[in-house]
Amino acid sequence: MPMNIAIDGPVGAGKSSIADQVAQRLHILHLDTGAMYRTVALYMLRNGIDPQDEQTVSARCGEADVRVAYRDGAQRTMLGGEDVSDLIRTGEVSAAASAISKWPAVRRRMVAAQREIAATADMLIDGRDIGTRVLIDAPVKIFLTATPEERARRRYQEMVNKGMDANFDDVLRDLRARDEQDTHRAVDPLRAAEDAVTVDSTHLTFDEVVEAILRIVADKTGGAWA
Ligand code: DC
Repeated sequence: MPMNIAIDGPVGAGKSSIADQVAQRLHILHLDTGAMYRTVALYMLRNGIDPQDEQTVSARCGEADVRVAYRDGAQRTMLGGEDVSDLIRTGEVSAAASAISKWPAVRRRMVAAQREIAATADMLIDGRDIGTRVLIDAPVKIFLTATPEERARRRYQEMVNKGMDANFDDVLRDLRARDEQDTHRAVDPLRAAEDAVTVDSTHLTFDEVVEAILRIVADKTGGAWA
């Protein structure tokens, strides 16, 4: 049985970049499950389907051929054989992903696909429901969070660094809207699993968060991966 590490948390907590670094240090792969929801969302947008239309999204989500591949250890997310890893990072796709991830039919498919991938290798998997649904028996579960203001500040800084036109108040408003949608949906809302260790990164540097998670992993696995 492969060993899996589950990392959940809200948008902007730094899950993806932290998870990448932790996975590299442990020499295991990192599965970003948000990228899979984003790819389903991209499929809907491309086909002119309203992400809020549960019936149509549910009826057609099976058409989206979502797969992940690893190139030089990094995840590439594929839609029908096309590498869409970069195309799924727009604001439009973020909002659509948050909307389609409410629908039970979409979640059922994604959870099944993620379990299949997780069964193939030791992996670190990040998302919203990994510790509470996808891998409830994962030996290590981490809930990575930070205050909304700090998460918005990081996202804003990232956009400024990329030369994008950004407004802090807009970033904070969008982030709160996605938090609201992710934590209040009826099916598998974002929450910490009872057996998860919470890491609050508000006052920690990137390296401090990585080290904190590595310590939790070592502690929970008796150093098996150290
Ligand atoms: O982590 P992210 O921002 O790339 O995720 C995109 C959306 O997908 C987010 O609004 C929540 C949803 N998601 C989910 O519901 N369950 C997951 N395991 C991962 C992401």
